[in-house]
Amino acid sequence: MTHVSSLYLHVPFCKHLCNYCDFYKKRYEPDSNQMEDFHQSLELSWLRHEELLTSRSYKLDSLTSLYLGGGTPSLWGMAGAEFMGRWLNDRLKLGPGAEFTMEIDPGTWAEEMVLAWKAIGLNRISIGTQTLDPNFIKIMDRSHSLDETFELLEYTQKHGWNFSLDFLLGLPFSREKKRNIENELIQLLKFKPKHISLYILNARSKYPHIQSMPEDEFIREEYLFVSDYLQKLGFIHYEVSNFALPGYESKHNLKYWKGEAMGALGPTATGYLPQSEIQATRYKWKVTKSEVEIEELGIKEINLEHIYLSLRTNIGWKPLVILPPLERLFSSWENMKYGHFTEGRMKLNSLGFLMMDSLMDDLFRIGF
Ligand SMILES: C[S@@+](CC[C@H](N)C(=O)[O-])C[C@H]1O[C@@H](n2cnc3c(N)ncnc32)[C@H](O)[C@@H]1O
Ligand code: SF4
Repeated sequence: MTHVSSLYLHVPFCKHLCNYCDFYKKRYEPDSNQMEDFHQSLELSWLRHEELLTSRSYKLDSLTSLYLGGGTPSLWGMAGAEFMGRWLNDRLKLGPGAEFTMEIDPGTWAEEMVLAWKAIGLNRISIGTQTLDPNFIKIMDRSHSLDETFELLEYTQKHGWNFSLDFLLGLPFSREKKRNIENELIQLLKFKPKHISLYILNARSKYPHIQSMPEDEFIREEYLFVSDYLQKLGFIHYEVSNFALPGYESKHNLKYWKGEAMGALGPTATGYLPQSEIQATRYKWKVTKSEVEIEELGIKEINLEHIYLSLRTNIGWKPLVILPPLERLFSSWENMKYGHFTEGRMKLNSLGFLMMDSLMDDLFRIGF
């Protein structure tokens, strides 16, 4: 039996459905049976998950990371702490030093709830900050005020929480309304976060502000500005969208980027079970019932994914064999200042991370 020691759990509720967000979620109706139904579906999913793991010779081990994402896990509240508390007694175990993260929307938390989760092992909070500009918090259709964001930031800092912030770039009207990223960063950094996730807003054609999105060059400047700013303060740009002070990288996400085994539960949550270097199973939970869609990966898919995921991180990609076309490509990337090729490993920098899609196209062109 091989062990899975990381679990992602998707909590599919939000108080308000932000108009830019594509994550799977439903509006939370406090007087409905949503929570009971969710608990019931998790119980059923647990059984199906056990069956799936066993069929691939896997077993859930004591966890090194547990990640509650969403949707809005903080909305799961006291009922969630009670439910997970039971699971952490009966069927899951947090190993020593395990990282246990919950995503919190600044409009949906209470101290009592945070303490109930802390009592069952929560030790890391990811805050959906997005922006600290009052104009943009409105444009971004957030349901909370900036005061609520500051309240949560103050609370987490005061109580010594290990926390991460989500920060969005490429917002509509950024140029017209003169978004001052530096000023927002100065305010954010006063709270001494050890980890920052920096996302470029990804908007679909139906997005109400699609006509007012900044152009690529503007976003590129924003991204490189933030990256440079944070690196000068000691943050490591350790993945395309993630910065951390040394030692504060997300253990959970690193496992995903390294292609290690990952358990998953909850609608749309995706798990990964590598069985060998040439065989792996990916599964994704359906939204209507406690069943999974299964994708079996072969050597080609595994290799491609390995290249893509390792180039996304500062660990970089070390090909087994480097034939002349690849060597020439790496040297052209170096010339373009996208990263460094040393000791057989290609490591991208912030500019390279920004160019990921076109670099992958370069690799396809030479036959990868
Ligand atoms: C599940 S949400 C975080 C928790 C909570 N629901 C909240 O919004 O505060 C995860 C993060 O994804 C990012 N996100 C959501 N939609 C996005 C989009 N269309 N493009 C880029 N990032 C997005 C936001 O930064 C958000 O904080
Ligand atoms: S609260 Fe978070 S998960 Fe929910 S819609 Fe907004 S960004 Fe998406």
